[in-house]
Amino acid sequence: MNSNKVRLQKAMADAGVASRRKSEQMIADGEVSVNGKIVREMGVKVDHSDKIEVNGMPLRSEKKRYILMYKPRGVISAVKDDKDRKVITDFLKEDVEERVYPIGRLDYDTSGLILLTNDGEFANQLMHPRYHVDKTYVAKIEGVLTTEEIKKLEKGIKFKDYTSAPAKAKVLSKDAKKKTSLVRLTIHEGHNHQVKNMFQAVGHAVTKLSREKYGFLTLDGLVSGKYRDLTRQEVALLKERK
Ligand code: URA
Repeated sequence: MNSNKVRLQKAMADAGVASRRKSEQMIADGEVSVNGKIVREMGVKVDHSDKIEVNGMPLRSEKKRYILMYKPRGVISAVKDDKDRKVITDFLKEDVEERVYPIGRLDYDTSGLILLTNDGEFANQLMHPRYHVDKTYVAKIEGVLTTEEIKKLEKGIKFKDYTSAPAKAKVLSKDAKKKTSLVRLTIHEGHNHQVKNMFQAVGHAVTKLSREKYGFLTLDGLVSGKYRDLTRQEVALLKERK
């Protein structure tokens, strides 16, 4: 009977070690042992009777934690940085003992709403394109968008490796003197630098970017660098999305 067995990388992700993909890398790198033996190959299945160690530390089930953070600008959305820059988990206080990591990414110079968790399954679900979580950004751009350009952004921009899905764009304000504008853009994908690239594709450089909403979640009540736990209801609602 194999029914309670799960793949080693899933067991690691569930225990909050890292995302499933990162866990696979750790397995390949020889950092993981099962019942005292280093396992490097993929596909090994484990259950609660197996003794799993990561870098010699036993795997324990952590309490699942779901955190909403207001990421400051000038911070890497990762748990460590090889150039020793500030990372998002530096902002967590002692009340967060679990090994949480960000779900997706915001650029170093982008501020705003980002979720962190130690629930690998949850993170994978939310990052899956099928989930279609709307993400709303406010961008300060150079110049003023024409109606034609707004239409292009909304219809979808063709890039080398993908075409952006239909989006919503709204000009919030314009500064005629400085020749800049503030634009709200809602997309549900998460390609690298997608918002900046979309504006660039219609001829406007983004000079400041902030993520204001993630699905129904907002930054209400938070200031830059602060965080809160999601409520049970919020977690349940996010999990329900199919
Ligand atoms: N799009 C970007 O260009 N940057 C981000 O950080 C997020 C979305």
